[in-house]
Amino acid sequence: MIHGWLDDPNLGMMNPCEEKLQAYAARLGGKEFQARMQAEQRIRVRRGEGQGKGFFRFEPTINLYAFIRLCLKLSGFWNRALRNYFDIQVVRNTVCIPHLPREFEGYTILQLTDLHADLHPDFPGRVKEIIAPLEYDCLALTGDFCTCTYSDHTGATTATIEIISGVEVPIYATLGNHDSLAKVPLMEAAGIRFLLNEHVVIRRGEAELYLVGIDDPNFYKTHSFQRALRGVPRDVTKVLLSHSPQTHTLAAAAGVDFLMAGHTHGGQICLPGGRILMHDRSAPRRVLAGAWQEGDLQGYTSRGTGSSGLPARLNCLPEVTLHILRRGSD
Ligand SMILES: [Fe+2]
Repeated sequence: MIHGWLDDPNLGMMNPCEEKLQAYAARLGGKEFQARMQAEQRIRVRRGEGQGKGFFRFEPTINLYAFIRLCLKLSGFWNRALRNYFDIQVVRNTVCIPHLPREFEGYTILQLTDLHADLHPDFPGRVKEIIAPLEYDCLALTGDFCTCTYSDHTGATTATIEIISGVEVPIYATLGNHDSLAKVPLMEAAGIRFLLNEHVVIRRGEAELYLVGIDDPNFYKTHSFQRALRGVPRDVTKVLLSHSPQTHTLAAAAGVDFLMAGHTHGGQICLPGGRILMHDRSAPRRVLAGAWQEGDLQGYTSRGTGSSGLPARLNCLPEVTLHILRRGSD
């Protein structure tokens, strides 16, 4: 069932061997792997049709981007929107978890998301410059590494590897709706550990923190909480990497303590005050940007580090986010 993937010239140097694919099927889950393969094959066949409705699912060949660019230029906003694209903010988000082990007090996760790293040649250098002085314990990449789902992913993969090249802490990642599984081998060889419906345990002395990652719940819908949480004890601290915040109710029901997501870009082109104009309606407005709560679950949706389709942002600056874990209730 994995035929049709191995001979795709667009995968270029990332076209993995069959043996590796079988290994990914075992990690992702057989059912989820088959669903992802079929969806990726459909995207390659359809090409410019993109992924369906919703601004953050359109592919850049779609005239929508040309139209938005034209509107920004005619209205005199283009130069400002391009400047904003590079004006990446460092946001600090404190997450209070009552049962966080004392050993993890102050543990800090740097989140980069929606890099779409091949959109502009100066972008990787800019991100490196922003994160170089920051202090954190691990790096989390929550998907959407490339601009275009169906084209050669080599450029975006190379750009992402460039961004993380100076990082000296463990790096974990999940795939987004713009990502092919084909990029995983090269990125894992560069030191990025993907969580494909999997978890890892971070230890400090006797204390444990569980970092859980699910596959894309938005377009591919190949996420599985059941697989990702298999073997995770009930009462431990659980931090979830989910490309989209649309999993907020599932995560709350699964007993996750903190969910970090991206996907929405915070709207990217917004009205004054950050009022979101465009989103794919996969999640309620209250979880589309910034910190939010769902029952006992705390969540944070990043506005994204890169941009979708166009290197342009209005009233919605990009961000890298430092999530600082604290023991306590507020
Ligand atoms: Fe994105």
